[in-house]
Amino acid sequence: MAPRTSPEISGMGHSMKRKEDPRFLRGQGRYVDDIVLPGMVFMDIVRSPFAHAKITKIDTARALKVPGVLAVITGETLAKFNLHWMPTLMSDTQMVLPTEKVMYQAQEVAAVIATDRYAAADGVEAVEVSYDPLPVLVDPFKALEPGAPVLRTDKKGKTDNRIFHWEAGDRQGTDAELAGSEVVVKQDLYIPRIHVSSIETCGCVADFDRAQGKLTVYMTTQAPHAIRTVFALVAGHVGLSEERIRIVSPDIGGGFGGKVPVYPGYVIAVAASVVLGKPVKWIEDRMENLQADSFARDYHISAELGAKRDGTMTALRIKTIADHGYTDAAANPSKFPAGLFSICTGSYQLGHAFAEVDGVYTNKPPGGIAYRCSFRVTEAVHAIERLTDILAHELGMDPAELRFKNFIPPESFPYHSALGWDYDSGNYAAALRKAMDRIGYAELRKEQAEKRARGELMGIGISSFTEIVGAGPSKQFDILGIKMFDSCEIRVHPTGKAIARFGTKSQGQGHETTYAQIVAEELGIPAAHVQVEEGDTDTAPYGLGTYASRSTPVAGAAGAVAARKIRDKARKIAAHLLEVAEEDLVWEPGKFSVKGAPQRSKTIQDIALAAYTNHPQGMEAGLEAVSYYDPPNLTFPFGSYICVVDLDRGTGEVKIRRFVAVDDCGNIINPMIVDGQIHGGLTMGMAPALLEEISYDEDGNIQGGSFMDYLLPTAMETPSWETDKTVTPSPHHPLGAKGVGESATVGAPPAIANAVVDALWHLGVRNIDIPITPEKVWRILHEKGVAE
Ligand code: CDP
Repeated sequence: MAPRTSPEISGMGHSMKRKEDPRFLRGQGRYVDDIVLPGMVFMDIVRSPFAHAKITKIDTARALKVPGVLAVITGETLAKFNLHWMPTLMSDTQMVLPTEKVMYQAQEVAAVIATDRYAAADGVEAVEVSYDPLPVLVDPFKALEPGAPVLRTDKKGKTDNRIFHWEAGDRQGTDAELAGSEVVVKQDLYIPRIHVSSIETCGCVADFDRAQGKLTVYMTTQAPHAIRTVFALVAGHVGLSEERIRIVSPDIGGGFGGKVPVYPGYVIAVAASVVLGKPVKWIEDRMENLQADSFARDYHISAELGAKRDGTMTALRIKTIADHGYTDAAANPSKFPAGLFSICTGSYQLGHAFAEVDGVYTNKPPGGIAYRCSFRVTEAVHAIERLTDILAHELGMDPAELRFKNFIPPESFPYHSALGWDYDSGNYAAALRKAMDRIGYAELRKEQAEKRARGELMGIGISSFTEIVGAGPSKQFDILGIKMFDSCEIRVHPTGKAIARFGTKSQGQGHETTYAQIVAEELGIPAAHVQVEEGDTDTAPYGLGTYASRSTPVAGAAGAVAARKIRDKARKIAAHLLEVAEEDLVWEPGKFSVKGAPQRSKTIQDIALAAYTNHPQGMEAGLEAVSYYDPPNLTFPFGSYICVVDLDRGTGEVKIRRFVAVDDCGNIINPMIVDGQIHGGLTMGMAPALLEEISYDEDGNIQGGSFMDYLLPTAMETPSWETDKTVTPSPHHPLGAKGVGESATVGAPPAIANAVVDALWHLGVRNIDIPITPEKVWRILHEKGVAE
């Protein structure tokens, strides 16, 4: 779609340079750790070396003697105010600080407050904690066995470790269809626990002003308003009611879902500030961040896909065990304890499907956060895309051909899926065809055959994923009862410039630019003159925040609707100024002109001035509007990715030779930013496919608690991504846009895994669980006798 506005206005479709980059590139971003307040003190945290243990004693005497140490806070301190437990966003409970036992390694045990960070760290070393170790459960299957020790002894009457059982679809119909299917492929898949590992760790500066009774918390949160409400619920009984709490989320160095939950450190810092009457800064170090919070996935999937012998898919049945660690502290919408996993029928026409998920407690840190995905969509897409490839290989069909045969055709949209979603729009075959043409699929298959004949291992993997983003319609979506709308408030100043405030919070995605472009598109005010603000609960309208690619589908829509309300008022003012009826005016971006007399016109700037200096009698002055947008449906972005790998028969290394990504996120606001989102997402998708995993030994010791073991991708491992697009607008979004932030993270892992298995299928390899490390491949090569 060619842009409707000029480059000066830079509405949708312009690759406007990011407004936030001058400050980021000059090192002048303002992150939490940049905040320095008068009289500020520092907090550091004592953490448990055990994954499960009774605390028999916490001796703080030596710590309190360390020069600079002001206080040591324990669970007992917080228990006096009933602040030692807090609710999670999933209506579970989580310890702020323990009074009886610890439940995972690196759990917070006590906090030391000191005049500087070094003294706080010395104080932490001096706190003496005595533990009595308890049996540890790290395997969710064992945790579910009858007779397994019950971990959540704090929950009266709890007799097992099951958190929830959730299911969707038609169990009996699916069972019957699978029983009658000519072919059924079955595969167990483990999607390991991984960590978000943003550049910036979590932290806050809690500042309780005793004189005003007001608490300001500067913190790394993706959802400031929801956090304010949670704080008010937790601390209302000690006088911190919601109007006395201000959450400010300054610049954030990456969130990816990891900065949605409330971590104990935030609450302890707040309690410390209230007790001491001083601002308290808490910034996690890298090891704490990597060992204690921001964990995702940990899904054990057992999936079955039925089909006719000609490749027509018939039914899908998936059973999953979800390891949530010791509490369910994910941030899924209330009605969806397993997130939006029921998108697992993917891009395919499947008449019958059934999915069930059991959430389980183990002695691990809380997990299950939506890491750059819309609540478990990565897991769902991995399952269906891996199963589709396995089915193709079993049937001896080309994986692309099998996909074309089963895609939901464009004319079937809106499409009601067997698991209950109404897909808004899609053209899956067009995206796959474009990816195949771009990469030269037919030639690659020929090359593969030739190489295979020579003993070389080359694989081609496809992933044709469907996403589900934009949570969500209030009839289904809430977090802790708060509906998942989002908001925008726009004020146009007398000189025709504007400020637009949103309920979301960018963590690097470029909202200051793209939201300004939305306002520019709708009002014709140059995006350069639209200031965008987010993240301060004292000024921004209430919204549920940024995660799960919901900003564009929900807050972006609110921006368009608010701007249209302003345009409606602007039309009235223009009619008054031009002395014509409103119906006689024609709008083009930036001005109203009289039908048939285009020389008679008023620009949005003329109209803004008149709104304050010459507005019609009987009309309120000013030019502003607010929208709380409740989306009628989610948006369903999609894409087709093709990956080509070569395996090193000496080392087992997987080399991504080419990777073509064709994405469709509907109408695009800023093509450059979308491309950047996809590039970053692809690298973040490659990481769990080939490198990243957080595992635990049987005593609950983390294996991967530093970047020596937890392998983040660097430029060295990142191939040159080739991106392209198709555009299938969302029919219900005011701008026709869909979200895009997580598409590539969701779509990339199965493309890579499918490529590696494709290289090895002829040797009898059906599946390799991600991450597909050189060691795993090397072992297989030796087992199959093809190692060099
Ligand atoms: O919620 P989050 O911002 O992470 O995800 P998103 O809504 O998918 O947007 C990511 C970035 O891509 C934002 O800067 C969007 O404005 C931009 N975007 C776009 O320019 N066009 C789209 N159709 C979708 C997103």
